[in-house]
Amino acid sequence: MIGAGTMGAGIAASASAANYEVYLVELAAAARERAAAGLTKTLGRLLPDAAGAEAAFGRIRLVDSVAQATSGDIYIEAVPEVLDLKRTVFAELARLAPAGALLATNTSSLAVGEIARPTGRAQSVVGIHFFNPPAVMKLVEVVRAEQSSDESVRRAVEFVERLGKTPVVVRDTPGFVVNRVARPYYLEALRAIDAGAADAECVDAVLEGLGFKMGPCRLMDLIGLDVNLATTRSVYEATHVERLRPSPLQERMVAEGRLGRKSSRGFYDYGA
Ligand SMILES: NC(=O)c1ccc[n+]([C@@H]2O[C@H](COP(=O)([O-])OP(=O)(O)OC[C@H]3O[C@@H](n4cnc5c(N)ncnc54)[C@H](O)[C@@H]3O)[C@@H](O)[C@H]2O)c1
Repeated sequence: MIGAGTMGAGIAASASAANYEVYLVELAAAARERAAAGLTKTLGRLLPDAAGAEAAFGRIRLVDSVAQATSGDIYIEAVPEVLDLKRTVFAELARLAPAGALLATNTSSLAVGEIARPTGRAQSVVGIHFFNPPAVMKLVEVVRAEQSSDESVRRAVEFVERLGKTPVVVRDTPGFVVNRVARPYYLEALRAIDAGAADAECVDAVLEGLGFKMGPCRLMDLIGLDVNLATTRSVYEATHVERLRPSPLQERMVAEGRLGRKSSRGFYDYGA
């Protein structure tokens, strides 16, 4: 697992709970510390038996470079949603991962085929797109890019099933299925707030009242406004559908560092 942020740590926990040996590669020392604390909590919830949770924790090795994890069967990248960064990671995987390894990206909205380009082994690359929080959410999109082999897609589906989750195979189109369908949920809420029609609490109350588990603002705070904005930007840049244009309100909030729970403040306050 490459990247131990919101998604990487949760995916690592799900995999170790399913008996995989996991190397969790994270560059930032602070993020490694946060991940270690988060893993204990997440594994405690996934495996209520204390000995089982401890054993699962022991199956995860937190390291600071891919060079320490060169014998993997499956590599999943969850670094920030920036194409060049992901390509750098995939170029490194192409150098260091065994020839038969499955290489996967957890990208929300970038083209898997573009991320795969520097590897020279695009047939081994797929998207495995988990949802937040990854240890809880059952649905996982397995993204088949133009050059992904049937064997790679099959291995990704099998991996997701072994995690006790539900894979759906989708094509490599902007936002895949879930994020494309979900864009208007966030964007209409942002427009309503920006136009002064309602505040965040009101929008959330209305949509939660209609049966959604989380209102759009509470959900953006959980996802991270920066991560959510990056997804909107790349879906918009790939489609140019006017209704999917990024929201100036969200851009302002991200510029001000109001990123949601991870910065203690987004639409709501989460204390220091
Ligand atoms: N947050 C969500 O709700 C969500 C949901 C689905 C998919 N995603 C996708 O998952 C990916 C990661 O998102 P996130 O929210 O976990 O981001 P995050 O910012 O919480 O975590 C990313 C981590 O990657 C680390 N990192 C950066 N470069 C690295 C490198 N070269 N090697 C190892 N670690 C490196 C960073 O230090 C950071 O800890 C993105 O592509 C995002 O679009 C996010």
